[in-house]
Amino acid sequence: VPLPRIEVRSSLPTANTYAVAVAAGSPIEAAAVADVQKRCGVDIKAAAKRGEFKADAGEVLAVPTVSGRAKLAIAVGLGDRSGRALRRAGAALARKSKDGEHLAVRLPGSATVDEAAAFAEGLLLGSYAPPKRTDKPREGGLQQISLVASADGAADGVARAQIVADAVARARDLAHTPSDIKSPDWLAQQAAELAEQSGLRVRVRGENELADEGFNGILAVGQGSSRPPRLVELEWAPKGAERHVVLIGKGITFDSGGLSLKPLDGMVAMKTDMAAAGAVIAAMGALKALDVRTRVTAVVPIAENLPSGTAQRPSDVIRHYGGTTVEVLNTDAEGRLVLADALAYADRELKPDVVVDLATLTGAVTLGLGRRHGGLYSNDDALAAQLVAAADDAGERLWRLPLVDDYRDSLDSTVADLRNMANPEFAYSGGSIVAALFLREFAGNRPWAHLDIAGAGRSDGEEDEVGKGPTGFGVRTLLRWLTSG
Ligand code: BES
Ligand code: MN
Ligand code: ZN
Repeated sequence: VPLPRIEVRSSLPTANTYAVAVAAGSPIEAAAVADVQKRCGVDIKAAAKRGEFKADAGEVLAVPTVSGRAKLAIAVGLGDRSGRALRRAGAALARKSKDGEHLAVRLPGSATVDEAAAFAEGLLLGSYAPPKRTDKPREGGLQQISLVASADGAADGVARAQIVADAVARARDLAHTPSDIKSPDWLAQQAAELAEQSGLRVRVRGENELADEGFNGILAVGQGSSRPPRLVELEWAPKGAERHVVLIGKGITFDSGGLSLKPLDGMVAMKTDMAAAGAVIAAMGALKALDVRTRVTAVVPIAENLPSGTAQRPSDVIRHYGGTTVEVLNTDAEGRLVLADALAYADRELKPDVVVDLATLTGAVTLGLGRRHGGLYSNDDALAAQLVAAADDAGERLWRLPLVDDYRDSLDSTVADLRNMANPEFAYSGGSIVAALFLREFAGNRPWAHLDIAGAGRSDGEEDEVGKGPTGFGVRTLLRWLTSG
C-alpha cells in the first residue's frame, strides 16, 4: 500500500478535505485559529479551552464540523518540538485521519525545515498500512496530505522525508510478506527490480555461483529448503566518491530453526527474519534520490532455514568463504553462518573503508534492551558514536553493547576453527554478545559495526510512527548516517 503523497503549500487548499488540522503549541497561534474558523466554521481555540488541550506531543483534539470544507477540525500538539515530539505528532494526526483520503494541515509559521521534515515523516510513517492479501476492496487510507509550511526550503526537506519514509515502508512491506511468496529468489528479484529503478548496479548469485566461489555458509543454511539461496550485491558508485561503505543484511526468508526446530511460539514471526536484508535493500533504493556522495555496496545473503532430508545437521562442519571452518552445533544459529560468508567476502574482495552489518540475530538482545533499541557493537569508537548519533537524529534508537573478549573462548571448537553457538560449559550467557564476537572473526581488521535488530525490527503494538509488526528499523539510521558524512 503506497504511502500518501505530501504536497507543501503556503496556504491551506480550497478543495474539500477530510480534515483540516493545525499542528500547534499552546496557545494555538492566532493565524491558525482564523484559518480553521474560515475553512470549517469551528472555533478551535474555544474547543481547545473546553477540551483542556495542552499541546502535549501527539495530543489530538478533533472536532466534528457542522458544515464547511472538512468533516473534522483537528488540533495536534507539538510538545517540545523535538524530532521525537514532531514525529509523534505527525503519526497521531495520521492515525486520526486514516478514514479520509485527503488531509490538510498547517504548521506554525515559525516551523523550521527540519521541524517540517520530522513532522512529515511522522505523518507518513503513521499512515503506513501493511499489504493485505484479499480480493475485497481496500477501504479508506490517506492518499494526499497538503502541508502548509512556510520556511524556505520546506518543500525540499519534506521531499527528502518522503523518500526516507517510502524506503521505510518498502522495508516493512518486504518483512510483512509471507514466506509462501517470499522465497530467496523472490526477495532477490525484488532487490534487483528496485536496483534497476534506482540507479544501482546489481548482481544476484545463484546456487552454482555460490558453490563455485565457496559461499558455503549460505549454502549450508539454505540446503534444507527446496527454494535455493541467493546472494544479492547492489552497488551505488557516485562519481568522485572518496569513501566506500559496505552494508550487509541478514536475509533469512523464513527461520524455522532447521533441524534444531523452533517451538511454535517462536516460529510464527520468523517470516520477518529478513528484516535486516529488507532494510538494507530499501535504504540502497533511496541513495540516488538522496544524492548520497559515498560509494555503497550492499551484500545480502538470502536463504530459507528449513528442516528436511537435505538439511544441515547439528555437528556438520562448514568451510566458510575465505576458509574459516565452523562446527554447527545449533542449526537455529543460522544468521551468523550466512553473515560470516558475507563479512569475509566484503573484507577480502570489496576492501571497503567501513562495514556495517544488520541482523535479526538473537532473541537474547531483547532481554536487556527490549524492543525499542537496537544493539550496537563496534570495534571502532568513532563509528559507533556516528551510528548512535545518526539513529538518534533519525528517530531510531541504538545502544552500544560491549564485545567482551573474555567470552571468546566459548566459541572454540575441537573439530573446527569455531563453533556457531557458545559452549554450554562456559556459563557466560550474553547470547547477543557472543554472536557479535562470532561475527567479528570474519570482519577482518576494518572499522566494523554490527546492529542486532532482533528486538527493534518488530513491534508488539502501535507506538508513534511505528505500527504493530515489522518496523523497518535501520533504514532511517543508515540513510541519516550516509547523508551526513
Ligand atoms: N532469527 C533468530 C533470532 C530472533 C529471535 C529474531 C526472536 C527475532 C526474534 C535467530 O536465528 C536465532 O534463532 N537465534 C538463536 C540463537 C541461539 C540458537 C544461539 C536465539 O536467539 O535463540
Ligand atoms: Mn535461527
Ligand atoms: Zn534467524
